[in-house]
Parts: sequence; C-alpha cells; structure tokens
Amino acid sequence: MTRVLVTGAAGFIGGHVVDALLAAGHEVTALDAGHPAAHRGTPPATVAGVPVRTADLRDAAAVRDALTGVGAVVHQAAMVGLGVDLDDLPEYVGCNDLGTAVLLAQMARAGVRRMVLASSMVVYGEGGYACADHGPVRPPPRRTADLAAGRFEPACPGCAAPLTPTLVDEDDRLEPRSVYAATKLAQENLCAAWAEACAGTVAALRYHNVYGPGMPRDTPYSGVAAIFRSALAAGRAPRVFEDGGQRRDFVHVGDVANANVAALAAGRPGFRAYNVASGSPTTIGAVAATLARATGGPPPEVTGEFRAGDVRHVVASPARAAAELGFRAAVEPGTGLTGFATAPLRP
Ligand code: UD1
Repeated sequence: MTRVLVTGAAGFIGGHVVDALLAAGHEVTALDAGHPAAHRGTPPATVAGVPVRTADLRDAAAVRDALTGVGAVVHQAAMVGLGVDLDDLPEYVGCNDLGTAVLLAQMARAGVRRMVLASSMVVYGEGGYACADHGPVRPPPRRTADLAAGRFEPACPGCAAPLTPTLVDEDDRLEPRSVYAATKLAQENLCAAWAEACAGTVAALRYHNVYGPGMPRDTPYSGVAAIFRSALAAGRAPRVFEDGGQRRDFVHVGDVANANVAALAAGRPGFRAYNVASGSPTTIGAVAATLARATGGPPPEVTGEFRAGDVRHVVASPARAAAELGFRAAVEPGTGLTGFATAPLRP
C-alpha cells in the first residue's frame, strides 16, 4: 500500500484512476486545478470520498504540501484535445509542461521518485505504414489540397503508392503534429530527464482514444467519442469527418485506470513508455454507427470535412504493456461503446 498523489483527480480519467487505486488498497491524495477547459461548472469537492485539493500545479507551495506522506505520483492533470485556436498555446504549455516541471522539481525535493504519467498516442503523429515496395515508411503531413480533393489516405513518400496502416510500437519515431501533442512529448522528455537525474521511475502511458462513463460533454477540448455521444443525446446525427475510414483504437476508461494501477506496481527503473490500447482497432465511421445504433438515434452523416493537424490512422501494439506491466484491456470496443452510448456523461 502506498499513498499516491493523483493530479487531475477531478477529471474524467483521474476520477476512474482514484477509484482503481482505492480498490487496489492504496491511499489517495487528490489534486485538481478545476481548469475551465475541463470543468464547465464547479468541479467536485470529493472524488470517491477523497477530498480534492484545488490548486494549479504551477503553485509550488501547494504541490509541496500535497506531496506530504506520498510515495508515488500518478500524473493525469493536463489540458487535452485540439483547443480553440493558437491563443490557447501558452495555456497548454503552462498547464502541461510548466506544471509538470514544478511537480517534478517538488517530487525530487520531497524524495518521491516514482511517477505514472498520462501520455498520449498523439506523440506518434501519423501511425505506422508500409509500402509494398519500400517497406515501413513514415509519410509527411497530408496536404490540404489532397484532403480538399477527398484524398485522405497518405501515400508512399518514395513512390506515391497506396500504403497499408501498421501498428505503432513504443520505439517508433515521435512526431507531434499539434500543440497538445507537442506538450505531451515535452512532458515525456522532462520526465525522462528527471528520471535520469534522480534515479527515478516513470511509466509513461500512451493512452489511445479513451471513452467511458463520466466523459465530459463536447467542448473544443473533447475527443470524438464525447462529441458523437453528445450529438446523439441531443437527437442529432454524429458528423463523421473525412470518409469515416480513419482508424483509431478506443480503450475503455476502466481499462485505462487499471493500466495506471499496474504501472504503479510494475514500473521499471528509469523512463519507459507503454501504449495503452484495446488491441482491437476500429474506424471512426464504425464508432459513429455503433453509438447511433445503440441509442436508436439518427445514423451518422459522413461529411467529408477535415481538420488541420489530424492524422489518418494511428493504431498501436499493446504488446509491451502486456509483457512488462501485465496489462491487457478487458473491454472489447464493440461492447464498451454500446454501453457508453447510454452511460451518463459528466454534467
Ligand atoms: C484524440 C484526442 C486527444 C487524445 C487522443 C488519445 C485530439 C484532438 N483529441 O486524438 O486529446 O489524447 O485521442 O486519447 O487530440 N472526428 C469526426 N467528427 C467530429 C470530431 C472528430 O469525425 O465531430 C474525427 C477526426 O477528424 C479524427 C477522429 O475523429 O479523424 C478522432 O478525433 P479526436 O478524438 O478529436 O482526435 P485523435 O487524433 O484521435
């Protein structure tokens, strides 16, 4: 049993992590900034009966105080998603990177040497691809002219041939394609440098597309599952961008919480990254169809719209987390998404 500081404890994933840590017999200190990008109203005062300390990670004195008696940190606090516009940039960096830097410095001072970091598959940029002639390739960002013409699939940078999507593993090249992605990679890099400097242990969990009960309603910071779910709850059809064939891996928040508990127990010395995924990739069009069917709502509209910075496919190998953390997702996406279709969202 360890006392664990959970940052972002009042958030969607953080709340499930608190539940899972308590169920595994740990004690929890809960910290949350109550950031307006994550909370529309007043954030909860308690999570699973644990009082939430309201403080920003950039407040060194509050972080020092929260680390009292703590043996490990599970760091979920972050601004996520695409954001509104580039005016968001300083706040992403402030919350995600300066906040993490203050936390790491205070952990070193307090002698807390173990962290589980909520990272993201966005650090990869485009997923893996193979060309029949050139083998594994990493295509550059898609051109606006191609997307506008409905050419959504990236082509081989060598011969322009069509590509087959492949699974990314943790040693693949990291190529963030958005502000959020850049701040998540910076978090990983800061944690790796910190672990090296103070003989610390950091397991960075690269979450794929997380969904589940308690997900916030759609905001500029939400993932697509919340956006589709909110549209259906309002009686509107989910709007599927591109042609709906883009592939992702949807992982249930209960599995993500269990991955955090497993990483806390098994993390090996130094910095190590792990994909946290269901291992059963799906398409965005299929996700929309599953949710629409399960709610009895209008069928999805495939709009052909596209967003700057979006990647086409990113699906992962969950093999390392299975081998080293003993983590395997228990919820199959078809079943999980059907349940999610009628599960409560966060008010
Ligand atoms: C998402 C999250 C990211 C998170 C990561 C891993 C963003 C914007 N979102 O990345 O915060 O860390 O998963 O959990 O980074 N789409 C639609 N209709 C919509 C909205 C989106 O079809 O109304 C499409 C998008 O064009 C994209 C796909 O759905 O192809 C996924 O979108 P989204 O969930 O926002 O982004 P991810 O890149 O998967």
